[in-house]
Amino acid sequence: MNELKHLAIIMDGNGRWAKQRGLNRTKGHERGAEVVREITTYCSNHPEIETLTLYAFSTENWKRPKMEVEFLMKLLGRYLKNELQTYMKNEVRFETIGDLEPFSKSLKNIIAQTKEKTKNNKKLIQILALNYGSQNEIVRAVKRLLDSNQEITEENLGKALDTPYSDVDLLIRTSGEQRLSNFLLWQAAYAEFYFTKTLWPDFTVKELNGIIENFKNRERKFGGI
Ligand code: FPP
Repeated sequence: MNELKHLAIIMDGNGRWAKQRGLNRTKGHERGAEVVREITTYCSNHPEIETLTLYAFSTENWKRPKMEVEFLMKLLGRYLKNELQTYMKNEVRFETIGDLEPFSKSLKNIIAQTKEKTKNNKKLIQILALNYGSQNEIVRAVKRLLDSNQEITEENLGKALDTPYSDVDLLIRTSGEQRLSNFLLWQAAYAEFYFTKTLWPDFTVKELNGIIENFKNRERKFGGI
């Protein structure tokens, strides 16, 4: 049976969930943040999962209306503040990938503090992809290698990425869209994909359990026969 060490999720469909209910898109993001908490807690208690990477804000998401971008930034700050207790209780270490430079000073501070306070937690690493784009990450990694006079090899490049943790085993995208949207292009080279029509605010631990079962029974060949 396949081992599931690294689960990655593209959380999509918050806006459509809200629209279906005649609500503002922001309500979808709020409910989405609650689902992040539920899924993270589940993963922290899962016997195999070591890393959970969640696509929270892409380099392309800046194109959204200013009000929505500002709301997402505030929601993230609020989430991290409220979440500290849960991170500690569930022994979750918080990490990020992506370029944090454009974020406000206060958001950068909360991010840094949460990383520092949770750094010794051992049950799960929750990685939020923030202002993340995989192509951008690969370019920054190549620059790091050139700046430090290292040879450009697969091994060195892999280590120079924002995520030197492990390759992705299973990648889920919600809401029926079937694309990678510039997420973990390098790390998902041999990932198994699962696309569900469920909108992220409706995604449940029960559905995740079923998806993991499906993953367990797949045949992974990694290019062999
Ligand atoms: C996609 O839905 C979701 C996002 C761009 C942001 C993801 C954010 C959250 C799940 C909530 C905040 C997260 C944390 C960690 C606090 P969409 O807006 O693209 O939905 P649509 O495609 O239906 O419009």
